[in-house]
Amino acid sequence: MCGIVGYTGPREAYPIIIKGLKRLEYRGYDSTGVALHNGGLKVYKKKGKVAELEDAIVGKDLHAHVGIGHTRWATHGEPSDRNAHPHRSASGKLAMIHNGIIENYNQLKKELDNLGYSFSSETDTEVLLNFIEEIKKNNQCDLEEAVRVALKRVTGAYVILLLDEDNPDTIIAARKGSPLVIGIGKNEHFLGSDASPMLEYTKEVVYVNDYELAIVKPDELILKNLGNEKITPYVQKLDLELAAIEKGGYDHFMLKEIFEQPQTIYDCLRGRLDASEGTITMSGIQQYAEDIMTANRIIMVACGTSWHAGLVAEYIFEELCRINVEVEYASEFRYRNPIINKGDVIIAISQSGETADTLVAIENAKEKGAIILGVVNVVGSSIARTSHGGAYTHAGPEIGVASTKAFTAQLAVLTMIALKIGYIKGTISQDRYMNLLNELQQIPEKVAWTLKHSSTIKTLAQKYKDAHDFLYLGRGYNFPVALEGALKLKEISYIHAEGYPAAEMKHGPIALVDENLPVVFVATKDAYYQKVVSNIQEIKARKGKVIAVITEGDESIAGMADDVMIVPEADEILAPMLSVVPLQLLAYYIGVAKEYDVDKPRNLAKSVTVE
Ligand code: F6R
Repeated sequence: MCGIVGYTGPREAYPIIIKGLKRLEYRGYDSTGVALHNGGLKVYKKKGKVAELEDAIVGKDLHAHVGIGHTRWATHGEPSDRNAHPHRSASGKLAMIHNGIIENYNQLKKELDNLGYSFSSETDTEVLLNFIEEIKKNNQCDLEEAVRVALKRVTGAYVILLLDEDNPDTIIAARKGSPLVIGIGKNEHFLGSDASPMLEYTKEVVYVNDYELAIVKPDELILKNLGNEKITPYVQKLDLELAAIEKGGYDHFMLKEIFEQPQTIYDCLRGRLDASEGTITMSGIQQYAEDIMTANRIIMVACGTSWHAGLVAEYIFEELCRINVEVEYASEFRYRNPIINKGDVIIAISQSGETADTLVAIENAKEKGAIILGVVNVVGSSIARTSHGGAYTHAGPEIGVASTKAFTAQLAVLTMIALKIGYIKGTISQDRYMNLLNELQQIPEKVAWTLKHSSTIKTLAQKYKDAHDFLYLGRGYNFPVALEGALKLKEISYIHAEGYPAAEMKHGPIALVDENLPVVFVATKDAYYQKVVSNIQEIKARKGKVIAVITEGDESIAGMADDVMIVPEADEILAPMLSVVPLQLLAYYIGVAKEYDVDKPRNLAKSVTVE
């Protein structure tokens, strides 16, 4: 949440910062701002998206070789011009941007109030900035030292970038809990919440760790800990191409990412799954195979869409590995003093690898002796680095705020882990193992087949776009898919939608059913099929409108539903990777039909680095 960009070097800073902010807008788009150093500090900021700020400052003197920029997801204080970052300190000599939450800002504010400070915004950021300035003045120290002293008093999460009027070419940066990447160029440095703002300039990057402070000049990068000791920066090479973060001819990133799924699932399986040899190679799992097999229980910890992937995995692991699995919302798990025993295995599932609740949940569990495995998309992210082992999903950058390709890649990875462990453990027969391996290898093709029918779903979107509520129902492996379908619709089209296990409908939600309520059934051919058919009849008997995701060739449900969306046949364990695709498309096309900005749905941000 919130995107930050910085540049210091010989080029014009403003275009680099604006372009970088556009790439980071997925992290929040409540307001935008830049601070440039050009003889003195200039700050331009505005409520709204990056393009709105750009339009508003046409004609201003934007020439500078050092600058910082921010795109905000509001936490403290409504989205407004005055709450937009960068903030200026009381003296006007410092400018700062911040991603995160300063939890004890009220206490710091009281101290500053007593010293006569007044504030022009409602943000925790302005409080921290003035706190730093006060320390600098009071201790008569330089900015670097003041930041160090201040951060020792701070509780919460932050990445901060600061410009100092008296130090024209230097950016001071620090991190705890929110991501910070520094790109290294020739006599220039780039800073970002992720590597996307610097991709076209350099592939050499340093991921800054918690409690580290960076002093960044054009020709020098100094990293220190909060004890003022120097740390040698660990420079990594980015394995990411510019094309991966551009729309490539699609109207929206979300559509591009839905259509990328045959490739992303293929990439995820590639080099790991060999159906002809009957092998699954995952070194980050292999090391912990014994721990997983002998675990009393596996706890899946995640949020949102990743939590839905965990729910599907619960069914798969219990079926194939006969291990007790619990699926936890990271935000609940971390606060309720859960019982974690040595030998428990935690699987943290996260696209961004930066979700604050998931990160803290695994940090706590790690301290209590659990083995932590990460199923993460973003390479080098905090969750990946905190985990003992695990497997990357290799879905490539997911920029659309609603998660799509990350979900199917998570399912592919989790299925491979379950197959591997079940096979070694002997809880799955050789035949079933080989069949599932073969079928898994065919999933990319089957997703491609499903996508070829997207025009039918576009037509359905027109028909149902004005509904006020939707129900999504499914059973077994398709129950979490129903939850995911409902979440996608809520996020993208702002239509109220609820996901339920199909049988639960009778225990309450059926009261909602009338001729105006579309009910989406995820009703592919599986062990629950006949039961779902009965549930469809129950909705039809009450005049509900039934839209069903069905297996190709299913004349029976096609005959009773108002509309159908078709997927190819697959083993029920693998079916969610297919049945979710029409639901992603339905949400997308309804959002587009309602003329919403589907890549940047209101109030959301991609990477939730606050609690
Ligand atoms: C839904 C969505 C969110 C994320 C959730 C977890 O479309 O994107 O619900 O799934 O915020 O994020 P990660 O997977 O990055 O931990």
